[in-house]
Amino acid sequence: MATAGATAFADHTWWKEATIYQIYPASFLSTGSGSTPGWGDIHGITSKLDYLKDLGVDIVWLSPIYKSPQVDMGYDISDYKDIDPTYGTLKDVDDLISGLRERGMKLMMDLVVNHTSDQHAWFLDSRSSKSAEKRDWYIWQPPRYDDAGNRQPPNNWAQILGEANSAWTWDEETQEYFLALFTPEQPDLNWRNPAVREAVHDVLRFWLERGASGFRMDVINLISKVVGYPDAPIKDPKDPYQPGHALYANGPELHKYLREINDKVLSKYDTITVGEMPFVNDSDEILRVVDAERKELNMIFIFELVDIDNVPGSFRLTRHSWHVSDLRKIVSSWQKTMHDRNGWNSLFVENHDNPRSVSRYCDDSDEYRELGAKLLSLMQTTLSGTLFVYQGEELGMHNVPLSWDPEEYKDIETINYWKKMNKLHAGDQKQLDDAKLTIQRKARDHARTPVQWTDGPNAGFCKEDVKPWMRVNDDYKTVNAAAQRSFDKSGQLSVWQFWKRGLENRRKHKEVFVYGSFELLDDKHPDVFSYKKSSKSEAFVVALNFSGSDVEWTIPERAKVDNWVTSNYDSWGPKQTTSGKVRLRPWEGLLGTAAV
Ligand code: NOJ
Repeated sequence: MATAGATAFADHTWWKEATIYQIYPASFLSTGSGSTPGWGDIHGITSKLDYLKDLGVDIVWLSPIYKSPQVDMGYDISDYKDIDPTYGTLKDVDDLISGLRERGMKLMMDLVVNHTSDQHAWFLDSRSSKSAEKRDWYIWQPPRYDDAGNRQPPNNWAQILGEANSAWTWDEETQEYFLALFTPEQPDLNWRNPAVREAVHDVLRFWLERGASGFRMDVINLISKVVGYPDAPIKDPKDPYQPGHALYANGPELHKYLREINDKVLSKYDTITVGEMPFVNDSDEILRVVDAERKELNMIFIFELVDIDNVPGSFRLTRHSWHVSDLRKIVSSWQKTMHDRNGWNSLFVENHDNPRSVSRYCDDSDEYRELGAKLLSLMQTTLSGTLFVYQGEELGMHNVPLSWDPEEYKDIETINYWKKMNKLHAGDQKQLDDAKLTIQRKARDHARTPVQWTDGPNAGFCKEDVKPWMRVNDDYKTVNAAAQRSFDKSGQLSVWQFWKRGLENRRKHKEVFVYGSFELLDDKHPDVFSYKKSSKSEAFVVALNFSGSDVEWTIPERAKVDNWVTSNYDSWGPKQTTSGKVRLRPWEGLLGTAAV
């Protein structure tokens, strides 16, 4: 084991050291070059490449820009080889790739191949008749009938983005159900059909030949479902449909399909791959995907940290209290597991499917928002793995306030949830207020508000006379990129400047931060997450106070701190003691050099 671990961490590769910046195109920057006013466009992205380079970004990951009816914001693709006019054209993407190359940067595309849009030519053919050429490209099943003779879906699986509904949609024309795990407009492809797999390989080749350097693979662990589509266990008898992930996540043929992609396509190029892998936290299963020897994927997005506030086993839009010790346990165990077992981590606390990290893990009040955002930045930039930064995270953007009406939320998941709660709890204000709170804490919309570039009209996201597709968060006058980049106060850094310096530091000391070993320093403290990162010749200690109180932390002797060099309170080295008890202020994070 130890020898295998040494291999993955000793083997230095560009994609391990890279900082990847995720762009959600609709909300990044609207220059007016796309076809839909108030939506971001590809020109907007190209025009901000210097901004990204300056921050320290190496790779840009674009959430889907392909042709799409936008039922699920582009995760419903109707043509994998063309661009949605809302965002621009293939020529615009070529220009973006050139711009990236000129700056020594790369492009990662979002590959959404568990399902297509119901408007994709493949599905239009599939649903046209039972004998259609592509009928078997999707998952069709006959109905079941209950005791009263009523037609029922083939099983009890709930839709993922509309949990009150069945994951199966009835097709009147051909008198069968098709599986659409996310929404009815996103039918699941039938990966058992080799022709489907070949068509997917062809999509990968198309983008690699065009200049993409790799893929983020959307819900890639859902491509193989348990044969026979059995019912899911009943989680809550009150729900008409149940979470079915035990039967469709990491199904029987997943590893075969992933190795086939590697064998037939990826092995012929120098690529980066990251698979989105919800519902699975089992380390043996995760290692089967990311073990460097197995040639499946470079890394995956493990959901444990972003599921920290879900009711276990239940739907995503639920609330559950958690403690710093949970966060500490999750982060430490994946740091150690990947190191010891020849795997590789992705590091992320934000993306377009989650609320803002400072609102979730810290305190987004005016008093503590910046400190919290910097605390998380300190954690993210000092851990081993490939680092993902989501647009606006570098500014400490946070959730929209509770005062916003549910109508302001545009995401299909939020809309479906609000409908469900109104149906279930009509007239019960207490329950509805509670549902509103869940939306304010957990909705995906929080990450999708327009990026706040300036304190001008529409936060500089689009022109003054254009209505942004989604409302801009109210605080843009104070929270915006222009203010943070030009921030100039002796001894202090803005969130943006703190991130930039953290990324520089990570690059400079990559042997420690990217490839070094991880040692948890204290697994008992109620509020502090502390660890030591070491290479053969250098070491750093990190102490993070995940609480709004002053706390004392006793530095263990084995930490061997030489000098505290950074705090998220000051830009210069703090004066705290390097042995015995150190005092940490609310949401304070310290970085110190240490003896190996
Ligand atoms: C995961 C994506 O990140 C999410 O935004 C989308 O709704 C689902 N997969 C379906 O594609």
